[in-house]
Amino acid sequence: MKKETKLMKAIVIDEYGSAEKLHEAELEVPQIAADEVLVKVVATSINPIDWKARQGMLKAMFNWSFPVVLGWDLAGIITEVGKDVTSFKIGDEVFARPDIYQDGKRGTYAEFAAVKEDKLALKPERVSFEEAAAIPLAGLTAWQVVVDQLKVKKGEKILIQAGAGGVGIFAIQIAKYLGAYVATTASPKNNELLRRLGADVVIDYHTTSVKDVLKDYDAVFDTIDQIDEGLSILKPEGRLVTIAGQPTEKQQAGTQSVSAWWLQPNGKELSDLGKLVEQGKVKVIIDSTFDLSANGLREAHKRSESHHAQGKIVIKN
Ligand SMILES: NC(=O)c1ccc[n+]([C@@H]2O[C@H](COP(=O)([O-])OP(=O)(O)OC[C@H]3O[C@@H](n4cnc5c(N)ncnc54)[C@H](OP(=O)(O)O)[C@@H]3O)[C@@H](O)[C@H]2O)c1
Repeated sequence: MKKETKLMKAIVIDEYGSAEKLHEAELEVPQIAADEVLVKVVATSINPIDWKARQGMLKAMFNWSFPVVLGWDLAGIITEVGKDVTSFKIGDEVFARPDIYQDGKRGTYAEFAAVKEDKLALKPERVSFEEAAAIPLAGLTAWQVVVDQLKVKKGEKILIQAGAGGVGIFAIQIAKYLGAYVATTASPKNNELLRRLGADVVIDYHTTSVKDVLKDYDAVFDTIDQIDEGLSILKPEGRLVTIAGQPTEKQQAGTQSVSAWWLQPNGKELSDLGKLVEQGKVKVIIDSTFDLSANGLREAHKRSESHHAQGKIVIKN
């Protein structure tokens, strides 16, 4: 018997361009595969990849057909489970960074989204849906770079660029949790917040170059594509990971380890990070909240494109 088609509200683009291209549409609720669950989206959040994708900057990576649903963070409630799913059930409150699908229709600016079981984590009870939606993409990126790639250890010195950004705020707190000494860069208005979150040194990048005040660092987390600056403050055996650029052969030719990282969604790591948030060891900082509407998404994209959000921009359904 053919399954009945259900419709949902989604915010889509029909072509690449400005934030004004975002508009409301009615799409089919995604059909789930055996290893997926269907989640009713309670909240999602904005990442710079959203507006980069909206502008067409990811064309080479994803051959999407329009309309395209953007958005790659979610927190919500499971309404359907695939037949092979064993760890989650209908009614579970979950959060995730879903996979980016080649059809371009599976984003989280929608009432429902399909997520593979291995990308899901249970939402901790004491963490709100809005906070949970702010964690996956930025938090997992910070976790994977600081813990898995840079392997930051107690007592080591790390520079985290753009400390007040979505990724930076998580990275500072994760590095402090590991016992590192943390320097970061930010505008003066964010100095107090970043110190409260644990940063030992906050450099105003408008007036001061990291090269002039830091040296002999063990690790650099580059979030702004300033790899040469990062290399200049590292020890000869130091490590640098960038999530914002592509190191050149010259930058990789020295004694320091230099690499780029692209987030790998992972439900187990997300669950571990969620526990740190529930225990208050990592705080979620929300810059602003908008509703799941064309206007809400347009305003949220513009805020992210300002490059000066303080933490995460959240969308509530
Ligand atoms: N490879 C991956 O898997 C991956 C994953 C996530 C993100 N990313 C990329 O990583 C970058 C950061 O992401 P995000 O979510 O953290 O971005 P974001 O939240 O938009 O970052 C905003 C922050 O950047 C700071 N900032 C702007 N220019 C700066 C500069 N020259 N020096 C220092 N800080 C500066 C601002 O601080 P002030 O207001 O204090 O000036 C603001 O708080 C983006 O390019 C994103 O696309 C890559």
